[in-house]
Amino acid sequence: MNNSIQRFNTPIDLAQAATVTILQMAEQAIAKTGAFKIVLAGGNTPNLIYQALSQAQAEWDKWWIFWGDERCLAADDAERNSLMAMQAWLTKVAIPSEQIFPIAAEHGAQQAAQAYAQQIEDYLPFDLVLLGMGEDGHTASLFPCHPHNVDELVHAVFSAPKLPAHRVSLSVKTLSNSETVLFLITGASKAKAFKLWQTGVNLPVAQIQARKHTLIYADDAALAQF
Ligand code: 6PG
Repeated sequence: MNNSIQRFNTPIDLAQAATVTILQMAEQAIAKTGAFKIVLAGGNTPNLIYQALSQAQAEWDKWWIFWGDERCLAADDAERNSLMAMQAWLTKVAIPSEQIFPIAAEHGAQQAAQAYAQQIEDYLPFDLVLLGMGEDGHTASLFPCHPHNVDELVHAVFSAPKLPAHRVSLSVKTLSNSETVLFLITGASKAKAFKLWQTGVNLPVAQIQARKHTLIYADDAALAQF
């Protein structure tokens, strides 16, 4: 397991460091290829980072935005991962709308998963994938004891233990098909799963390995048992 773990005192310290890391990786990718392809994490943890990015200077016209997973809710539902990122960041900077690819989960898990697989195929590999982790060691919408066809680029999820039950998730293969993966993990509720992960339990979070760098940013509370 070649993960590099960086510890932060607070979620705010972590968010500041992650924002700098993301902007640096964007500059490097754009200098190399003229584009920066980033996959966004859902849940609450990345919100501070998205807010900070909304205040940053960057070559926004060269950013391409994708999501790692989505909840099968109406597009304007406040619990949608896409809406959270839009409101916190994407509507406040000049990223061309044709370079922003939300998962159309409002159409149902199966249809949305198939459509998104076709949509992202030509953009692989990504430059950076952001991921959170749940208390049970899930990441994106890949949950423990939920088998999937490993060859799929994108999975339809129908019985997620974290509501809503219907979701769409990029697969382990697709989330790993990135130059860098950056895990963002805060809070005491994540400490048990973090320890299990780092002591070799094959949780979904443990199955993601980037092409080059798998980075873990975690705060003291999440690392309390490690
Ligand atoms: C989702 C997320 C999920 C999330 C973790 C952590 O749609 O729910 O993609 O994988 O990242 O559950 O969530 P928090 O950051 O809110 O703790």
